[in-house]
Amino acid sequence: MPIRSCPWGFRLLPAALLVVVMLLSGRSAVAGPDPEKVGGPESCAECHIQEIEAWKQSAHFKTFNAMQGRPETAVMLGKLGLGRIKHEPLCMECHYLNRESGNILEPASGIACESCHGAGRDWAQTHGDYGKGVTKLTESAAHRTARVAQALGAGMIIPANIYALGSACYGCHLMNDEKTVNVGGHSPASVGFNLLTWYQGEVRHTMLHTNNTANPEATPAHRRQLFVVGLILETEFGFRAVAHATEKAKFGVTLARQTDAARKLLEKIQALAPSPELAAIVSTAQATNLRLNNAAELNQAADKLASLGRSFAARVTGEQLAGIDALVPDATQYRGKPYHLGAP
Ligand code: HEC
Ligand code: HEC
Ligand code: HEC
Ligand code: HEC
Repeated sequence: MPIRSCPWGFRLLPAALLVVVMLLSGRSAVAGPDPEKVGGPESCAECHIQEIEAWKQSAHFKTFNAMQGRPETAVMLGKLGLGRIKHEPLCMECHYLNRESGNILEPASGIACESCHGAGRDWAQTHGDYGKGVTKLTESAAHRTARVAQALGAGMIIPANIYALGSACYGCHLMNDEKTVNVGGHSPASVGFNLLTWYQGEVRHTMLHTNNTANPEATPAHRRQLFVVGLILETEFGFRAVAHATEKAKFGVTLARQTDAARKLLEKIQALAPSPELAAIVSTAQATNLRLNNAAELNQAADKLASLGRSFAARVTGEQLAGIDALVPDATQYRGKPYHLGAP
């Protein structure tokens, strides 16, 4: 299988090493969270009961049993000359959370906690540990800092790093395999995908900071931030996708058009709520040629956008983006129904 750009960064291995690993382990590798360190949703369930309930109502959960039986799946696999969707690494990396045990790589669930927050083996039991006899309220600042640092070092992707967390979404919701689209008939991207509108619907799970009393919508300031971060990610991952385009057909044409629209919208946002961070993003994006057979330039620009995007997300607040409210989609555009917590 082709070596693909990987939104999780830490799984990037040089191609030669990857081939050696694949030969030694007798299986193909998948991108995404490290299958050897994936515990599966059960490894989060003992503490995150409400998040699991919310997840069970989403397509990300239901797809585990539903996808393999869909007629479109069989048609697509036939056109591509592939076997079962749960056995093909090319499909598995976006359609399932994968686990490796006893040298066998298999889907553990649909798209689950670790698909977005990172493989949990080395942090699941420790990231929420306040210390013996200590509560969240009595924990010292130093203990908290050390706890968060341990989790980050062990590969946890935390909500505070919204750019990295959102990368997982765009790594799956924009296709980056030309043949799967042009030959298999797969959609090139989820139409209208944005981090704000697709997170705030059925995927929303914000109960932790309300002490499990509610699952509230993001504040207006946070909504603006999610929207703009989503557009930066769409431009970054759009460039990465178009880098795979070699023929003038659905894959390259649709993704180039969509990515061009995203960068134009960012330019409009920069005019309404200027920041030095977004200025750099817009000029990098506009200077890049969205054309076929242009992988080197597109990948280089995408890497630059990733680093600029992280500093945008860390430094520019939702308050600074107050001027863009007319562009921010409202709740009628949320994808799916949010999980309702508490009494009906
Ligand atoms: C042993 C209990 C326990 C397990 C198991 C557990 N968590 Fe947590 N988790 C917590 C606690 C407690 C907190 C709140 C920590 C705090 O107050 O800073 C938390 C917080 C989080 C946060 C928010 C962190 C932040 O910075 O806001 C995420 C995301 C998270 N957990 C994901 C997971 C995932 C994914 C799994 C499974 C791989 C998991 N947790 C397993 C107890 C647990
Ligand atoms: C880059 C990630 C990615 C890869 C690789 C991928 N898919 Fe998908 N697939 C998705 C997403 C995301 C959706 C949901 C599309 C949407 O929102 O419209 C989807 C939807 C589908 C659908 C539903 C019909 C449709 O097109 O909307 C089928 C069938 C499907 N995929 C089969 C496959 C098969 C078979 C493979 C392997 C050859 C594969 N997918 C590889 C991400 C991927
Ligand atoms: C599709 C990707 C995705 C999946 C799957 C996912 N999360 Fe999250 N999670 C996010 C995003 C994105 C945020 C932060 C959103 C924001 O900033 O508004 C988040 C936030 C959180 C938080 C912090 C909420 C708060 O109130 O501060 C916790 C805890 C958490 N996730 C745990 C989990 C657990 C446990 C699971 C599995 C049941 C899970 N997540 C599945 C993407 C995901
Ligand atoms: C590992 C790949 C993967 C990741 C990561 C991922 N998704 Fe998905 N998502 C999918 C696939 C595949 C489907 C289609 C499932 C199906 O139709 O059976 C889907 C479906 C959805 C749906 C339901 C769409 C519908 O048609 O109703 C929403 C909403 C969604 N994703 C939002 C998100 C958001 C927001 C994030 C990041 C916070 C995210 N996804 C991260 C692969 C992924």
